[in-house]
Amino acid sequence: MKTLEESVAMAMDGSDAAIVPFLPYILQDAWEIGTDPVVVADLLRRQRKDSPQLRVLDLGCGKGAVSVKLAGEFGCRCLGIDALGEFVAEAERKAREFGVERLCRFEQGDMRRRIHELDRFDVIVLGAIGPVFGDYRATLGILAPHLGPGGLIVVDDGWIEDDSPHVHPPVLKRGEMLRQIGEAGMRIAGEVVFGREKLVEADDQLFRDLEKRCRELMELHPGQRELFANYIRRQVEENGWLENRITCAVFVMTRLESD
Ligand SMILES: C[S@@+](CC[C@H](N)C(=O)[O-])C[C@H]1O[C@@H](n2cnc3c(N)ncnc32)[C@H](O)[C@@H]1O
Repeated sequence: MKTLEESVAMAMDGSDAAIVPFLPYILQDAWEIGTDPVVVADLLRRQRKDSPQLRVLDLGCGKGAVSVKLAGEFGCRCLGIDALGEFVAEAERKAREFGVERLCRFEQGDMRRRIHELDRFDVIVLGAIGPVFGDYRATLGILAPHLGPGGLIVVDDGWIEDDSPHVHPPVLKRGEMLRQIGEAGMRIAGEVVFGREKLVEADDQLFRDLEKRCRELMELHPGQRELFANYIRRQVEENGWLENRITCAVFVMTRLESD
């Protein structure tokens, strides 16, 4: 198993694990550091999962943007788990700011271990966390016992179209991804696919801010210049892939038997 730092680095675009202690500084300007919370709320509403009875598990919750939105919109209870203590503290602050601190609980921990101690949820959110549990076969095998009847798994992820010549492990081709989801006894019940413009718009501000923060860190830690320069390079490369060769979407999976 990868170390927790390697898992975080992989979820944050596969950089060097040595960058992990600096991520709270680098990403200090953004609250939403992955999934668009409005898109998740809209998808759940379309699936009629917008009730205050919902129990939501937000794995790799970051600074809690998705959980705080869902709790505010639906009045549902959310448990968010993230590896980084600074992100968890910010999630708690945001929950207080939006008046949902009684509905949201955030924990620092390794989701790969913590999941086995948890009960069942109506909605499990995997918001831009990458293959932390492995591919879809492995991920759904681990999460299935924690999904209640009629439960949904919301994923923010990407795939490569089947007729594309590109290969970018661990991103799967669409056909292979659907095969793995089907073999796990699930299907996609709804999805929002992002066009290039939306991705460029979302990535641009985040990138400008993180580049500025990396340059500050280069001044503060000249001995680690290369670490921060590599992080910037890696972000440019990944954004290029996401904007041009990978189809990015937020989608909802449900069990086949709930048809
Ligand atoms: C790109 S961020 C997405 C954050 C959030 N889901 C969102 O969409 O705003 C990925 C998050 O996954 C977390 N993460 C990665 N591996 C983890 C693990 N094994 N246990 C807990 N959190 C993890 C990272 O700390 C990071 O906050």
